[in-house]
Amino acid sequence: MQEQITKIKQQAKEEIEKAESLKSLNDMRVKYLGKKGELTLILKGMGALTPEERPKIGSLINSAKDEVEQLIQEKEQKFKEEEINKKLKEETIDITLPSTKIKRGSKHPINRVIEEIEDLFVSMGYDVEVGPELETDEFCFERLNLPKGHPARDMQDSFYITNEYLLRTQTSAVQARTMLANEEKTPIRMICAGKTYRREDDATHSHQFGQVEGLVIDKKENNVSLADLKGTLEVFVKRLIGDNLSLRFRPSYFPFTEPSYEVDVSCFKCGGKGCSLCKQTGWIEILGAGIVHPNVLKMNGYDPEKFGGFAFGTGLDRLAMFKYGITDMRYLYTNDVRFLNQFDRKD
Ligand code: DAH
Repeated sequence: MQEQITKIKQQAKEEIEKAESLKSLNDMRVKYLGKKGELTLILKGMGALTPEERPKIGSLINSAKDEVEQLIQEKEQKFKEEEINKKLKEETIDITLPSTKIKRGSKHPINRVIEEIEDLFVSMGYDVEVGPELETDEFCFERLNLPKGHPARDMQDSFYITNEYLLRTQTSAVQARTMLANEEKTPIRMICAGKTYRREDDATHSHQFGQVEGLVIDKKENNVSLADLKGTLEVFVKRLIGDNLSLRFRPSYFPFTEPSYEVDVSCFKCGGKGCSLCKQTGWIEILGAGIVHPNVLKMNGYDPEKFGGFAFGTGLDRLAMFKYGITDMRYLYTNDVRFLNQFDRKD
């Protein structure tokens, strides 16, 4: 029996040495050490031995099993290392190679302007409001003192969806929404930027454009006045476009403000001397503004005897054009990456 064990051990050693894969090693483990393995079978035949021989042979078999197991494990380890080394060799990454360039988008100039305006007004204590682009006649016009049939509606040729719904022609609609939604009728300081739509399309007008609206309402005793409006708009325009600009207020008409003004800014191209951009006038119109009309306050739940304030509205596209020196409004909407990429810089 002893001989037999030595023979099996020898045979196992040779086979393990010759083994060429993890799989064949595993087969050998089954063949020699498994439940029906050769060494295990000898253990079962021990019944035929004398009691003196049994422990001797038993321990021989066990140490043979240990030895075979040890050999198998060593060889396994060798295979595994070889495999890892092979993988490492195959998968080396040359970190000095230039990486593939990831195309990165950039913020649209209009969105940059919106964010800048919002930041500025938030720093002055304003809230940022939003309103729907699909608006009702009521909020877009009626609640702003433009009843049905009012001649000033002609200035805003609209896209009506039904008799009652239209694409908003002005962000002023959000003035009415904000006032009405404020049930406690507390003072308001809000700014709202968004898309607006009118039926016009030529070199300087697009059927879709952007506006920003501002509204301040406070208690009468706080005397929100034209001086406050002027001061606010000066900060607004100078911060956004340039410190060296001056503002000019011209009397105008808007149904929702009284008195109303159109606000011009000195031409940033010629500095006010007169050029093609300002049509030789030295001024460029940029804003509409005024003191909130008592009817608008009343219609939206504010008592004009107790409250008063100012409002203003302006076109985002023109602001972006002035700020960045963009010469054609259509660049803002054609999504030409060569144009847009110019704005891909860190702020
Ligand atoms: N909504 C006006 C327009 O689109 C602009 C405007 C003028 C807004 C005067 C105002 C304002 O808030 O007070 O032409």
